[in-house]
Amino acid sequence: MSARPSGIRGATIAGTGMYVPDKILTNADLERMVDTSDEWIRERTGIAERRIAAPDQASSDLAVIAARNALDMAGLRAEDVHQIIVATTTPDRFLPSCACTVQAKLGARNAAAYDMFAACTGFVYGMGIARGLIGTGIADNVLVIGVETLSRIVDYTDRNTCVLFGDGAGAAVMRPCAAGEGILGVSMHSDGVLGDLLEVPAGGAASPASHATVDAREHFIRMRGKELFKVAVRGMEESLRSALDEAGLDPGELDLIIPHQANRRIIDAVCDRLGTPEHKVVINIERYGNTSSASIPISLDEVVRAGRLKFGDRVGFVAFGGGATWGATVARWTMPAMNGKPAQAVVESTVQVVK
Ligand code: ACO
Repeated sequence: MSARPSGIRGATIAGTGMYVPDKILTNADLERMVDTSDEWIRERTGIAERRIAAPDQASSDLAVIAARNALDMAGLRAEDVHQIIVATTTPDRFLPSCACTVQAKLGARNAAAYDMFAACTGFVYGMGIARGLIGTGIADNVLVIGVETLSRIVDYTDRNTCVLFGDGAGAAVMRPCAAGEGILGVSMHSDGVLGDLLEVPAGGAASPASHATVDAREHFIRMRGKELFKVAVRGMEESLRSALDEAGLDPGELDLIIPHQANRRIIDAVCDRLGTPEHKVVINIERYGNTSSASIPISLDEVVRAGRLKFGDRVGFVAFGGGATWGATVARWTMPAMNGKPAQAVVESTVQVVK
């Protein structure tokens, strides 16, 4: 890719897409697998069902479908993409990266591709990085994907975790726009001291796969849910406030908040603290569970295609995840409302992209 002149310009979302697998795992199904109940799961998490990838579907397969949908909406071809950032905790393999596999399957031969390993916050981090890449002229067309096949690392004998997680993918195409439009604020944080609140103990360099690690079920997610809950609420509130500060906005000026779908009670607590009424908050956790890095781009694509975002709307994205990682972005929406129109019609009327 050739170098472009540097200088800050805006970066905006110009297309979105999502994909979830067909198979549905309901709370009733889980009642037959572990000692739990539909009532407990709904009351403590807000989840009714989640999607599970087919045995022959890996993260890259889900990601490619979401990416194609996002590229179609943006009116771009795979060859037009300059960078592919895949946020995932469940790459197909450790080597090569999931992003390189996605690049190959898409035929995005002009892109640099790499994984973003930041758990549930990965997509928000990806938006922040893409804003920097576009703003400084390093890239024009950045594909940010959040994808997970968490069912592959969930222990379906552990009721503390297996009721929470699901599989899915979401994607956004980010492109240049006029300064003062698109992404107006970014906030990114981590605290590695909190690493053991959510972990997969084995399978990496510190504890390579062995018969002993498999016997000890150390390749599955382990979570200290109660502690996570508290830091998640605090971190999400603080990071959204800090992204809003950069954008020069108050929480009350947001038209929509798209939070990471970790737990309905976490979302409610964050929005209570911000004073945000329920009708301004996107919640779909009842249908998909916690899809980690995929939850925000899935939610975004659903609201875009439902016509719930219109030109000029101010939208906040906020997440918390393992690491611990947390962050937020605030954007001024630059596409007109879709309202059931075909994606291409919307793209053609999208604000002029700055070159
Ligand atoms: N069904 C029935 N009982 C259960 C289940 C289950 N699936 N899971 C746990 N319990 C039991 C526990 O064993 C405990 O029983 P005990 O009192 O006899 O010991 C009881 O329910 C209460 O357990 P708590 O952990 O106190 O329940 P809590 O209200 O905290 O809810 C939950 C648990 C849903 C995990 C919650 O803490 C949570 O959502 N935490 C955030 C974790 C999270 O979202 N992680 C995802 C990744 S990070 C992120 O995305 C933010």
